[in-house]
Amino acid sequence: MAGLGAAPAGSLDALARAKGLRFGSAVGAGAPLRDAKYRALLTAECGLLVAENEHKWYVLRPSADRFDFGPADRIAAFARESGLGLRGHTLLWNRDEFTPAWLKVHDFGSRPASAAEKMLVEHIKAVCARYPQIDSWDVVNETIDPATGALRDTVFVRAMGERCIDVAFYAAREAAPTARLVYNDYMSWLPRDARHRNGVLKLLEGMKARGVPVQALGVQGHIGAANDREPEPFAEHDPKAWRAFLDVATGLGLDLLITELDVHDKGLPADRAVRDRAVADHARAYLDLMLSYPQLKQVLCWGLCDRYSWLQGTSPRADKASKRPTPFDADYRPKPLREAIAAAFRAAPERTPWA
Ligand code: XIL
Repeated sequence: MAGLGAAPAGSLDALARAKGLRFGSAVGAGAPLRDAKYRALLTAECGLLVAENEHKWYVLRPSADRFDFGPADRIAAFARESGLGLRGHTLLWNRDEFTPAWLKVHDFGSRPASAAEKMLVEHIKAVCARYPQIDSWDVVNETIDPATGALRDTVFVRAMGERCIDVAFYAAREAAPTARLVYNDYMSWLPRDARHRNGVLKLLEGMKARGVPVQALGVQGHIGAANDREPEPFAEHDPKAWRAFLDVATGLGLDLLITELDVHDKGLPADRAVRDRAVADHARAYLDLMLSYPQLKQVLCWGLCDRYSWLQGTSPRADKASKRPTPFDADYRPKPLREAIAAAFRAAPERTPWA
């Protein structure tokens, strides 16, 4: 894989690589991938990509007996043709809200535990086999309920119990023997996320104690205003508690990734320059903290340009202005956030890269 995904000199990926990191972005297979300017921006800045939705069950699995690999194949082909790496998100989004409707009412028959296990394992085998270029997988996404710190009640938990998480990791290990296996979640540095953080640590500690092959924690990194909550400019954050969390995770031997970085500017003033500055400064503080961990190996934005940010479609700003959460504006022009990421990479300590 050497040489794969080397973006041009001066790119965010080149700056990342100089420190043993990799930089990338999510991309959707629809309008974003059809947009030639956006494709050029992705190849100019990134060393790797991740499909925004196309590896999720609700896209891949129109029914129990069918796979639709079309959209994910388009992203995989673009990554390959552009010499970009690819990471996978996600083999199991263990959250009923994002489970396909047919699966939520699926009849697993008289032996639901073994039928559900068979479906989960076969899904993971088929998807991993289809995308051998993927070198790290979010095996499980968001299985911890932030309100309780316990595992969410989901179709697989109901059918086969909490062991569905371990089963997913063992299946991924077998189906993708050389891929890095990641647990991904959105616990954050907000004081109110203490229960979420503790729940994630409990899960990871349990997996490690049982010998489950989890290798890294994916920190989504949706920072800034708390989505769908009160419209504060930036919710208060607690770097000390966040470090304590990361210390425990890395103490378990896990590597770290920022998998979905963006800065929600929902509550910031309308003035664009003010907003862009605040977004950039907030991200810089976050990245400096994260990059101080040599275990942090990759940084991916959840979209590179504001035109395609998922945040445009969630909890609108009071003034209805379009949001500016990503490094490039809606017309692909770099913003202060791009420079903040570049500066954070330049200042970052070197680390041993993932092979
Ligand atoms: C989001 C996508 O960006 C949206 O297009 C989709 O409608 C919902 O999912 N955490 C995750 C991602 O793990 O998969 C989510 O992506 C954003 C939050």
